[in-house]
Amino acid sequence: MKVLVIGGGGREHSLVWKIHQSPKVSKVYCAPGNGGTQKIAENVDIKADDINTLARFAEEEGIDLTVVGPELPLTLGIVDEFEGRGLKIFGPNKKGAEIEGSKGFTKDLLKRYGIPIPRYAIFDSPDDAKRYIKEIGAPMVVKADGLTGGKGVIICHKEKEAIKAIDLIMEERVFGKAGDRVVIEEFMEGEEVSFMVFTDGEKILPMVSSQDHKRIYDGDKGTNTGGMGAYSPAPIVTSDIFREIMDRIMTPTITGMAKEGRPYKGVLYAGLMISEGSPNVLEFNARFGDPETQPILARMESDIIPIIEGVIDGDINKVEDIRWKEGASVCVVMASEGYPRSYQKGKRIEGLEAAERLEGVKIFHAGTRLSQGNLVTDGGRVLGVTALGMDIKDAIEKAYRAVSLIHWEGVYYRRDIGRRAL
Ligand code: GLY
Repeated sequence: MKVLVIGGGGREHSLVWKIHQSPKVSKVYCAPGNGGTQKIAENVDIKADDINTLARFAEEEGIDLTVVGPELPLTLGIVDEFEGRGLKIFGPNKKGAEIEGSKGFTKDLLKRYGIPIPRYAIFDSPDDAKRYIKEIGAPMVVKADGLTGGKGVIICHKEKEAIKAIDLIMEERVFGKAGDRVVIEEFMEGEEVSFMVFTDGEKILPMVSSQDHKRIYDGDKGTNTGGMGAYSPAPIVTSDIFREIMDRIMTPTITGMAKEGRPYKGVLYAGLMISEGSPNVLEFNARFGDPETQPILARMESDIIPIIEGVIDGDINKVEDIRWKEGASVCVVMASEGYPRSYQKGKRIEGLEAAERLEGVKIFHAGTRLSQGNLVTDGGRVLGVTALGMDIKDAIEKAYRAVSLIHWEGVYYRRDIGRRAL
């Protein structure tokens, strides 16, 4: 079987790595891929949102299965386009992907089905939004309605910060059309976790829990990033909370989407806040998380291909429960200095071979490329150094031992990934 993975980040490298291990797979392609995917797959120079060119490539190359990493092609309708051409593809269609593409749509959906969420209001006028802000007072969370690569969620501890957020999103239009509407949400105290499931639109196969570190600095300080590291499992997800997430959140959401005429197939990722012992939905994503996928796939023992095929064919229950490795895993993201703002590219990466030789360590590339035979930085998040351990403590130690061997000019990483779980 020939498989095409779409995307070029750490999540996609870990998908390529896992798919490549399947005895059912003869060749993997990655579009556009990175310096890491290139070692086990053939990189194809097509952008992840260039849907027509990707579909043409899949037809011409006789691709048997396409797996989509990022949200943008999903919300643009890549699944509809591929399916229309009779090509097999993993992910929700355009109507399903709206669960990530519009925060307002999702809030209203979840409210209709009685799924626990923080209180919220939606505005398409900046004046109305500002009046509401003055009415309810800080703290609160202001969110651009559309896709912003994780940057459109602004936590406001003061009223004037919330007013500024409205100006940024709705007047200065820094996120373009994604800022046509805003959602203003109650600020909820608690601990965030990521919870992902495979679903064929009816039945659900949960993955193990995980947690990412969104802020740039140690101690969860500074601006939000795409994610500076992640670990699995998240100890706060006890077996009771796991059951509650499945019964009160995942199942009714999948059922609700089907009832709304939007049957949802693929990976559904819930960003949750565990507050006073109960899970609440902060957001849904229509895809695998990045970097959560790296530690999760490092723990997955089962072949991923029959699961993906079960999702697409609507018979996921032919797959028995997913088998997971004992212990825990941690992924430390090594980034370019300056990320998530501006940063330099093209810095030579050293020490990777020695780090990769360490037992239990797997290094997933994100922003890397090969230049004249050397591996150089090519993005904000550069590597996801992932380690399996007997427990979180062991995995942290192994991951940081590997990190200490890798270097480039201007490397930056958090030093406290996973510590929250100890
Ligand atoms: N780790 C956050 C995300 O994938 O959206």
